[in-house]
Amino acid sequence: MKGIRGFKDILPGEVEKWQYVENEARRVFGLFGFLELRIPLLERTELFARSIGEATDIVGKEMYTFPDRDGDSLTLRPEATTSIMRAYLEHGLNVKEPVGKYFFIGPMFRYERPQKGRYRQFHQIDAEILGVQEAQADAEILVMLMRFLGGLALKNLNLQINSLGDPACRGPYRGEIQKFLRSKSEALCEDCRRRLDTNPLRVFDCKREECQAQLEGAPVVLDFLCEDCRRHFEQVKDMLDTLRLPYGVNPRMVRGLDYYTRTAFEVVAGDLGAQNAVCGGGRYDGLAEEIGGPSVPGIGFAIGVERLVMLLPEEKNYSRYPDVFLAALGKDAQRRGFILAQELRDAGVWVEIDYEGKSLKSQMRKADRLKAPCVVILGEEELKKNRAVLRDMASKAQEEVPFEEILRKVKGKNHGSGAKGR
Ligand code: HAM
Repeated sequence: MKGIRGFKDILPGEVEKWQYVENEARRVFGLFGFLELRIPLLERTELFARSIGEATDIVGKEMYTFPDRDGDSLTLRPEATTSIMRAYLEHGLNVKEPVGKYFFIGPMFRYERPQKGRYRQFHQIDAEILGVQEAQADAEILVMLMRFLGGLALKNLNLQINSLGDPACRGPYRGEIQKFLRSKSEALCEDCRRRLDTNPLRVFDCKREECQAQLEGAPVVLDFLCEDCRRHFEQVKDMLDTLRLPYGVNPRMVRGLDYYTRTAFEVVAGDLGAQNAVCGGGRYDGLAEEIGGPSVPGIGFAIGVERLVMLLPEEKNYSRYPDVFLAALGKDAQRRGFILAQELRDAGVWVEIDYEGKSLKSQMRKADRLKAPCVVILGEEELKKNRAVLRDMASKAQEEVPFEEILRKVKGKNHGSGAKGR
């Protein structure tokens, strides 16, 4: 039996890169005061339908939705923002502390056609600032995002921003884009013809080339911003300029979820091919009300971890290696070695042992394969003297060491290597 299409195993060898990225996210987000929270895998389908929007691809055709045994319609979360807002409102976090900064790392589910960089189960690193409407929050979330990505030494990244306005300025724009596209509706795909009535902005999102071609010369929402939205966008750009954070304005970016207002952004990577968005995000000042709460503004982003890991520089080594290999020869030495291994582990040393009573040669080969910097060799002779042989794998130098000194010696050998920080 094989796994499900679009659902990927992440094996040792790759998983170290994931740990590195997740640890870095926790470290950097911590510097900005973001707190981790955990949200459930399932929510009521209606929650996503209301927030992401019925006319989006995500809600329309990509959600894993099923009735549970009571007949309630449940959905595997396709994104985190909606659940984070739901949790924030449900637990009254907005009452205790009106400004909330949260992050979440975990799998999301979308029934998309799998290809390189696109999976049906994928992972996001998601961060949100809730309760702040001011442009400073937009600038701060972008700075945090780019500091995090920059710290991972990713190359060829491009931050694109846009403003989608608010419902007031989007109304007239909607009319204009509808008028523009109606004259070309014959050339649009069936989905886009439907979108024309339900949600014409979504045509920008269509992946078909024939639809993209029709958008040539289409009016853009930036030209329809009301005074407040225009000023907000100017403030965001001004702060990014002050912080010298490079960005480009992409007036055609609309994002694939309906909850966005004002600032929207994406980070695209030159090296990713067709699925080149590493991160997407934006402001969603109407989302809380959309799901039945009070008015709570918010802004955030989600990074696709699979895509991020694909961009990590190859030359960096993410693997970790044991501090020591313990090679025991003969039954008594094996028993003593087994105890010694646990003592070393209790003292914080990563010890690998052989379980099968293999020859010294074969155990040394294994130590080499595991890249252990030193080997403790325990034979019958050494055992009688309460000593072991310590071999340095790089210099091949060997010395006899009393048992009580093994820990100190091994830690010394690992100075600056595997044992560090543990
Ligand atoms: P999104 O643009 O739908 O936004 O997804 C964010 C990122 O998740 C994408 O840029 C991509 O890297 C990754 N991603 C999405 N779908 C897949 C897939 N099928 N396979 C692999 N990676 C994928 C959101 O989800 C919003 N909740 C972001 C946000 C947070 N907005 C405000 N706060």
